[in-house]
Amino acid sequence: MAALLRSPIFRYRSIVPKPLSRCNTASRFFATTIRAQSNLIGVAAALKAQSDPSLKPKATLFSEFSLDGRVAVVSGGKQGLGLEMAMALSEAGATVYCMDLQATPGAEFNATRDYVRKLGRKMEYVSVDVTKQKEVWDAVESIGTQEGRVDACIAAAGILNGSHCLEYKDVDFQKVMDVNTNGVLYTAQAAGRQMDRYKIPGSIILIASMSGSLTNRNQHGGAHPWVAYNTSKSAVIQMARSMACELGPKGIRVNSLSPGHIYTAMTAAYLETVPGLGDEWAKLNPLGRLGRSDELRGVVSWLASDASTFCTGSDILVTGGHHAW
Ligand SMILES: NC(=O)c1ccc[n+]([C@@H]2O[C@H](COP(=O)([O-])OP(=O)(O)OC[C@H]3O[C@@H](n4cnc5c(N)ncnc54)[C@H](O)[C@@H]3O)[C@@H](O)[C@H]2O)c1
Repeated sequence: MAALLRSPIFRYRSIVPKPLSRCNTASRFFATTIRAQSNLIGVAAALKAQSDPSLKPKATLFSEFSLDGRVAVVSGGKQGLGLEMAMALSEAGATVYCMDLQATPGAEFNATRDYVRKLGRKMEYVSVDVTKQKEVWDAVESIGTQEGRVDACIAAAGILNGSHCLEYKDVDFQKVMDVNTNGVLYTAQAAGRQMDRYKIPGSIILIASMSGSLTNRNQHGGAHPWVAYNTSKSAVIQMARSMACELGPKGIRVNSLSPGHIYTAMTAAYLETVPGLGDEWAKLNPLGRLGRSDELRGVVSWLASDASTFCTGSDILVTGGHHAW
């Protein structure tokens, strides 16, 4: 039995890991293998409690979502969905490094960083262009060296622009692919390399879009000119599956998250300029409304944490049901 529990099929990490920089080899082993007896959960805990009266029943579900002691990197973390998801990981306990293009972040980031600091969390900003592979690798390597670990990654940096598919210029198409597909790969690589370096069974979340699986109507006032965006997001969904298969033996999980229409600066550029577009988009899902960025807090916390340890290679759609009809 002991040998079976040590085998890769039971590889698991304890709920709250010690920072690896302060771990010796033995505790590093336990941080990445099976749950300790005291961390028994679910029915196994109930059965153990029956045979061992010293084991006190306790609700563990929310602690399975805990990111205490963990380190996360989030690209596109200056604003919008990236920042909202970064804040969620931060509230769950992680130290979070937000990477984005601009040299310094704006008011939205600063207010969020100040807020989470008051919660006793650390949130930092790092200026990185995700289209530059070495720049991203180096930035995340520095974070790994400083923190002694990288546990979670959200690759959320993205851009959106469009022309008719028969008119799309090569440079414009390339630009979208460079950020949305190549940049996501470089970010996932950068985090995965640190997870591998510190032997951490981390979680990588690639932000795709429902537009990677369907071509939604009325993307720009009635036409459908987002061929580059849709193509780039489709590639991200397959990238997650492919990386999940390659990194599974290392215990590193890779999933994609595909949101539906959510009001952010990216979509506001269309919603604020095309009259009635917001109402049209709202009617495209069964809930009859646009999503809010905070409606992704739960799913990213789940994906980044031990609450989802058997989930990899999946595309999680959060669309208000847009994809359901
Ligand atoms: N808003 C939606 O409805 C929606 C739906 C599905 C998917 N998404 C995806 O979610 C992600 C976040 O989108 P958002 O709506 O928050 O948009 P946003 O424009 O508010 O945020 C995108 C962020 O990416 C950053 N970025 C762009 N190019 C970069 C680069 N080269 N290097 C580093 N950072 C860069 C931007 O500076 C910005 O902070 C994107 O990948 C987007 O495609 C959004």
